[in-house]
Amino acid sequence: MNVRWIQEQKGALAGKVVLVRSGLNVPVENGVVINDFRIRKALPTLQFLHEEGAKIIVVAHIGREQDETLKPVATELEKHLPITFVQTRDTLNITAMHNGDIVLLENMRQDPREVANDDSFALELVRDVDIFVQDAFAVCHRQHTSIVGIPKLIPSFGGLLLHDEITALTSALNPQHPALCILGGAKFSTKEPLIKKFLATYDDVFVGGALQNEILAARGFVVGKSVVEDGRVPEDILHNDALRDAIDVVAMAPDETARTVRVGAVAPDEMIVDIGEETIAAIAADIGKYKSILWNGPMGWYEKGYDAATAALAHAIADTDAYSIVGGGDTVAVIQKEHLEDKFDFVSTGGGAMLEFLLNKSLPGIDALTEN
Ligand code: 3PG
Repeated sequence: MNVRWIQEQKGALAGKVVLVRSGLNVPVENGVVINDFRIRKALPTLQFLHEEGAKIIVVAHIGREQDETLKPVATELEKHLPITFVQTRDTLNITAMHNGDIVLLENMRQDPREVANDDSFALELVRDVDIFVQDAFAVCHRQHTSIVGIPKLIPSFGGLLLHDEITALTSALNPQHPALCILGGAKFSTKEPLIKKFLATYDDVFVGGALQNEILAARGFVVGKSVVEDGRVPEDILHNDALRDAIDVVAMAPDETARTVRVGAVAPDEMIVDIGEETIAAIAADIGKYKSILWNGPMGWYEKGYDAATAALAHAIADTDAYSIVGGGDTVAVIQKEHLEDKFDFVSTGGGAMLEFLLNKSLPGIDALTEN
């Protein structure tokens, strides 16, 4: 991986116009950022460029709706750095910028050309810009203008966060043994190649969340109304010695009352919504033996409030001496709710990007930098 890093340009950036793609996709409620994790992670690169005296233009996206605004993010960033919020590149006068100034442009996905990876948009963004810095690791799996388009046009570098993400996640591809991998969330078919890869690399792999329903169904257990794609799991996964199974689960009845039952005792009208206490206790009892632990994805139906097993698992991992890496929006949210962020060795800003990096050892946004 031949990425050039912006920190290596120290001393050569004063007065340079630097376009930075940051990952600032944070949750906002009533116009206020309710979780600043990604903003904090974006700061070191911006602080570095600010101290170096570069003229900094930050581009980023937020949310999924085209009219969503980065204004609350600008307010949050202002607590740490002087920021000017500007609607578009057209309304920005670069010649009036001073060394160290930072301008944040409005949500770049308000322009459909961002997602379309449109050359005209890339050309517009790099006009009068000297260099580009990619720091939005969480978006590097997308084929968007600011991810793969811009690096084709001007000298491009990786930022400090991108560097940390690649370093930590590359280490997870060659973990210190014994190693435990925990995967949660949904969409078994998309995660199947990754599960296979981890079964080959890690000593133990625990699959929770809706992914586990697929395995229980394939083993012939009743999973009732649980979320299941097709209940077909390849034999080399199902009979792999490294695969750790759930012992009990939380099952929710149609009236939304829940009970904890052994796997196999789920009623046909019930839905599995979390893993049970016995399963967590079994993982926790064994967890001290691992030298490294990798975790992505919640164990239960997080949106519905079933986060008890995820929180218990977070505490169990936090109490170990293992080198721990965790990622995925919902998982990280639980860890923060439990005030455990500092107890993990590395908390990734990526969800899908983290998984895709672990599968392919790179991402389109990183390849774009190496090809530059
Ligand atoms: C994320 O929130 O995981 C990243 O910012 C990517 O956002 P997207 O899924 O909307 O592309």
